[in-house]
Amino acid sequence: MLRTHTCGELRLHHQNQEVTLAGWVQRVRNKGGLIWVDLRDRYGLTQLIFEEGSSDKSLLEKASQLGREFVVQATGAVIERTSKNDKLPTGEIEIKVKTLEVLNSAKVPPFIIEDETDGGDELRMKYRYLDLRRNVVREKLQLRHKMMQETRKYMDAQAFIEVETPVLIKSTPEGARDFVVPSRVNPGEFYALPQSPQTFKQLLMVSGFDRYFQIVKCFRDEDLRADRQPEFTQIDCEMAFVTQEDILNTFEGLTRHLFREVKGVELEEVKRMTYVDSMKYYGNDKPDLRFDMKFVELNELVQGKGFSIFDQAELVVGICAKGGSEFTRKQLDELTDWVKRPQIGAKGLVYLKYNTDGSLKSTVDKFYSSEDLQAWANAFEAKPGDLILVLSGDAKSVRKQMSELRLKMGEDLGLRDRTVFKPLWVVDFPLLEWDEETKRFHAMHHPFTSPKREDIPLLETDPSEVRANAYDLVINGVEIGGGSIRIHDRPTQQLMFTHLGFSDAEAQKQFGFLMEAFEYGAPPHGGIAFGFDRLCAIFGGSDSIRDYIAFPKNNSGRDVMIDTPSTIADDQLKELSIRVSLKK
Ligand code: AMO
Repeated sequence: MLRTHTCGELRLHHQNQEVTLAGWVQRVRNKGGLIWVDLRDRYGLTQLIFEEGSSDKSLLEKASQLGREFVVQATGAVIERTSKNDKLPTGEIEIKVKTLEVLNSAKVPPFIIEDETDGGDELRMKYRYLDLRRNVVREKLQLRHKMMQETRKYMDAQAFIEVETPVLIKSTPEGARDFVVPSRVNPGEFYALPQSPQTFKQLLMVSGFDRYFQIVKCFRDEDLRADRQPEFTQIDCEMAFVTQEDILNTFEGLTRHLFREVKGVELEEVKRMTYVDSMKYYGNDKPDLRFDMKFVELNELVQGKGFSIFDQAELVVGICAKGGSEFTRKQLDELTDWVKRPQIGAKGLVYLKYNTDGSLKSTVDKFYSSEDLQAWANAFEAKPGDLILVLSGDAKSVRKQMSELRLKMGEDLGLRDRTVFKPLWVVDFPLLEWDEETKRFHAMHHPFTSPKREDIPLLETDPSEVRANAYDLVINGVEIGGGSIRIHDRPTQQLMFTHLGFSDAEAQKQFGFLMEAFEYGAPPHGGIAFGFDRLCAIFGGSDSIRDYIAFPKNNSGRDVMIDTPSTIADDQLKELSIRVSLKK
């Protein structure tokens, strides 16, 4: 080995030992006859000291020529520092260097490789291998590593078998576009990269594997956001002979295990909420339960009093921000402008201040008596000092707008604490979702999800009312995972495809293999997939999953380090029987 110890290891009790360290030069301080060098590796930082008068005359000169990020090997004695650094684990000692070997020189790095850096996002991504040298970045990937190990430990202990499924497959309809790969030996034909291993894991249940899992890359060609990458990782799982309850318990167990082992957090009971309640009280299907601010519907209370905007609205809904009556006029105007931004799209904001002196002041005093306003306050169980915010309009849009406003208020009032974790199962999702663009129903989860038995008759009469045996795990307002109990017989699967607008021939062409498998003894089964990158980000207290991926893509889906996607040679295109007529 080129070293006897790491740069994070040496303490006072190693005093007088001769050691050899290797690592990167973080900083050089040259005081003429005395040079200090901070040497860094993955494990920490150790100070090297070079003094005049050492036996090797060239040593000081050699040290003075070191630059940032040079790779060096240094041998010397561990000595006690005169001025100690209690912020550094190795801060009590330094190495009095006897021999120094430059293993490799380095160009001046394009940004400072320390916790606080001067490098912008784009630059750090272009030199991601340098960015990864920074402790704060590496620690995130170490967290990911630990999460992966603990996941495998738990799953193995629960008798799950890890099976790798293929990456060159046929399209799986998970709702996004596929990335496709041309086949050279089958001209004009393409593979698709899996959006998830959904059909394979179901086939493994038919095979009798009983419990499958895989930590697996998935690929989706969709618009990117902070919590979406074109290639991301799932903890993908499937179980046979189980009910929904068994699945929720097993994966609540995984979540609990990870929080305990990785974060030392003992998770409270995971609450459950139906999709319908989630939409009604929080305006979306992934409520952040770190704070309350439940929606209160006000139609009955506020309509018929001559305020036409409320009278014409399908839904009038409000939230109560505890302690918000201190908001100034200026802050409230800013909030009004905020909801009116095109991204939110509200027409306006009505507010009611419940002042600390007990008086009530609203933007619509003209239309409502003080008794009316008191009744509003009562509906929210508001106390003096609170602020009630009300939006109105068509139900779907207004719920969405209010959901955004609720999150903003939670943020502004400091209620979205990153060290608090509020997991939630959202259950009873609708089976189908109407798509205005294509004028047909889509599977809300995916076409293999089973409808609730008692709702099956509604498929003919009122498809949008059919509930599915589908569930999501939400933590702090982030959809961490989703799954369902599957259809496991051919007639039901065929019926499902019919409702989704597939002809029998189309269904047969795309999913004949799965429906045929169902005819050879398919056990009842169900499963779930966790978004592994999102889970890591939540554990790390971050909104962006990019930090938890070693080599992520940017917001246009590019890897700016290896500069891809990129064109390929004409010969390669010809070989693949592809003609490109795109003009840039
Ligand atoms: P679903 O499509 O809900 O279900 O995906 C499961 C979880 O994967 C995460 N996720 C993503 N993470 C990062 N970037 C993306 N582009 C991205 N897309 C999804 C989310 C999500 O909850 N086959 C089903 C699972 C099943 O039914 O068992 C599936 O893939 O956290």
